[in-house]
Amino acid sequence: MADLDNLEKELLAAIEAAGDERALDEVRVAALGKKGSVSEKMKTLGGMSPEERKVAGPALNSLKARVTEAVEARRKTLAETALEERLKSETIDVTLPVRPQAAGTIHPVTQVMEEVIAIFADMGFSVAEGPHIETDWYNFGALNIPPEHPARQDHDTFYLKEKADGSRMVLRTHTSPVQIRTMENVEPPIRIIAPGRTFRADSDMTHTPMFHQVEALVIDETTHMGHLKGTLEAFCKAFFEVDDIKMRFRPSHFPFTEPSMEVDIGCTWEGGELKIGQGDSWMEILGSGMVHPNVLRAGGYDPDRYQGYAFGMGIDRIAMLKYGIPDLRAFFEADLRWLRHYGFPAVAKPTLAEGLS
Ligand code: PHE
Repeated sequence: MADLDNLEKELLAAIEAAGDERALDEVRVAALGKKGSVSEKMKTLGGMSPEERKVAGPALNSLKARVTEAVEARRKTLAETALEERLKSETIDVTLPVRPQAAGTIHPVTQVMEEVIAIFADMGFSVAEGPHIETDWYNFGALNIPPEHPARQDHDTFYLKEKADGSRMVLRTHTSPVQIRTMENVEPPIRIIAPGRTFRADSDMTHTPMFHQVEALVIDETTHMGHLKGTLEAFCKAFFEVDDIKMRFRPSHFPFTEPSMEVDIGCTWEGGELKIGQGDSWMEILGSGMVHPNVLRAGGYDPDRYQGYAFGMGIDRIAMLKYGIPDLRAFFEADLRWLRHYGFPAVAKPTLAEGLS
């Protein structure tokens, strides 16, 4: 019996000393496994006399039960310790900021497009779109610029490879093709703006090969030049956030409008800083006019019944003016420092009610 007591002590000590589940399992197999120390003792019962067996049997069974119990208890303790340690190592510092600070900003061109849309939407305009890659017809022909017309040379057009039929697609040189696409798809009255990218092979301080315009088209039976002037004045006041604005309508020429005007706004240079609204200097911001009868016809409208105005404004240009950005090329260099300086917070969407900028 004394050797059973010793065996039990040894086993319980080994169980207590097992540092992890694997070590514990080794101890369990060494005791209770097929060839384990306890199992070997069990095997000796067969060779005993009935009297000896009466004493040794229950003693061995209860030893086996206590060892099994001790293994289970140790297993539980080990699992709990392991969980505790995991929780300790995976703690979260709840005092850290919830989210990292947003690194990006809204590009001034995007911001200005949103501002322009907000202002015109308030005046009842909706937004129309067209493809960047256009046919010659939409970019030129339908806009009263026939083949060989000198105006084509002014546009520094990017052409795509000639197709089998000899025609060439173009990267649209202005947003005016959206005028035709809109007329083809909706019945008058029309009141749309079409903001988007435009392309011309030109590059210097104030020109980039890709730039942005916003087109406007208003067609019904009675719209006249007074409406055009009133709309532009309302727009400029809202956009430049001034109470009054000096504007100048200069006679000009576009094949798709008649009469045509270019529009300048008054400004001053005070100590190198540009101020919009008043003053003796002028800044050109857009081309405009009354839609040419040939354009109405190309769009499928009867020019004896319908009339209206159109204008095309440079978005990059008015962004530079409003936010005092000197070099147009920097708009498209994707320099993060520039974006941090001139960009806008991502969460503040421009609205007329809450402020544009
Ligand atoms: N499409 C002209 C340009 O890009 C602008 C314009 C639009 C002029 C509509 C008159 C009417 O210069």
